[in-house]
Amino acid sequence: MDGEARNPAGTRRGFLNWFLGTSAGAFLLAVLYPVGRYLIPPTVGESAAATVTLPIKPEEMRPNTGQIFKFGSRPGILVRTPAGELRAFSAVCTHLNCTVQYRPDLNHIWCACHNGHFDLTGRNIGGPPPRPLDAYVVNVRGNQIVVSKGA
Ligand code: FES
Repeated sequence: MDGEARNPAGTRRGFLNWFLGTSAGAFLLAVLYPVGRYLIPPTVGESAAATVTLPIKPEEMRPNTGQIFKFGSRPGILVRTPAGELRAFSAVCTHLNCTVQYRPDLNHIWCACHNGHFDLTGRNIGGPPPRPLDAYVVNVRGNQIVVSKGA
């Protein structure tokens, strides 16, 4: 008898506890998940593309010039050195991710954001960039330029 009398109340309390528990849990999840997503941004991985055939023909690249191209979702820079060699790098500045450009007057790669300088091997040689640009492999296949990430 006693047990029967307690059961409904116990069930109700149990349900209430469950409901409040899950509501609180859902509420916390609803609040904390976006906050967590905001505070811990997803890692910006390297572009998924490993090889790209450029829409630029080798003969279009005169010595001492540079050209930005799309490497997956990120920019790359193709450079024809004054000596005539084709080289490619990530065009994302290693300082604060601005897109670098080629400066024919300086004969090297330059970042306009904070006056960062990179030589023709991608090495940081002036300004705030802390690291070299990522270097890519350039292959000329017939009339096409194929750029790929190194192994
Ligand atoms: S982002 Fe390139 S020098 Fe600052």
